Amino acid sequence: MKNEFTQAQLLDRVNTVRVTEGNPRVREISARIIGDLFRAIDDLDIQPDEFWAGVDWLSRLGAVGQFGLITAGLGFDRLLDIRLDEADRRAGRTGGTQRAIEGPLYIAGAPLGKAETRLDEGNPGEEGEPFVMEGRVLDADGQPVAGAIVDVWHANTLGRYSHFDPDQKAYALRRRIETDADGTYRFRSFLPPGYAIPPSGPVAELFAALGRHGNRPAHVHFLVTAPGLRTLTTQVNIPGDTFIDDDFAFATRDGLVLELDKNVPAAGYASLGIDKPFVRSRFDFVLQKAADDSEASPQARMARAVG
Ligand code: BEZ
Ligand code: FE
Repeated sequence: MKNEFTQAQLLDRVNTVRVTEGNPRVREISARIIGDLFRAIDDLDIQPDEFWAGVDWLSRLGAVGQFGLITAGLGFDRLLDIRLDEADRRAGRTGGTQRAIEGPLYIAGAPLGKAETRLDEGNPGEEGEPFVMEGRVLDADGQPVAGAIVDVWHANTLGRYSHFDPDQKAYALRRRIETDADGTYRFRSFLPPGYAIPPSGPVAELFAALGRHGNRPAHVHFLVTAPGLRTLTTQVNIPGDTFIDDDFAFATRDGLVLELDKNVPAAGYASLGIDKPFVRSRFDFVLQKAADDSEASPQARMARAVG
């Protein structure tokens, strides 16, 4: 009876069999997740057809590149941020702009401007409300950070992101701004709308089965980096959106909802092509001191994780 197993024996075998040491951390995580899944199958009496339908769903999810939507939609992206916030609190690392999720729609290498830029340049047909966001990058002592890079990206007026949307030019609505000697940055764009998950495909199927919507409120993403300072991944929300407290990615932070100044006179904004009253928001990014080189890594989440 060497090869006849109970469920418990099979689990033990799956989690202990090996011919080399492998990677102990990977073995630890794998054993835990496999154990939890074995238990879920047993506790919930998951039937073979249900199991294989789930495998088919995962295969299709990978094939269409939608894993990043599901990690956010099932709360994992926010969970990782909550855990980092808790670790910071325990370590007494307070202060600085709140972090928020990166989301799966970042692309590295956006065009770089000095002190100011237009995100909306080269986007004919974009008719959103002109919007300028400006402020400074500061360190935890309130000192301006010269030469910081503010990498900013948002959706077009249809709620779609360039690179993932074949109808937009490369790097549309994506720019990097290097701060001036006094830490300032500013950019012109338009107030973006919210985002919605693709209407068909594996994510839409799951959300329909869960009875959930797949909407995000209007937001703008940032990755702010500077040597020696802790990389900040964050997003700001545009106030007034129906979904602001009901983001499918659970990513709104109460401290990151912008205040908008309406009807700001155009004087001083000609270099951004502004010639009539417009909407402005002032927002400073405050970066903590990095505890080590890895915290100051200028890379986004996936590049950081897998090199
Ligand atoms: C977004 O930032 O637009 C986004 C975040 C998570 C999932 C999908 C989209
Ligand atoms: Fe987004």
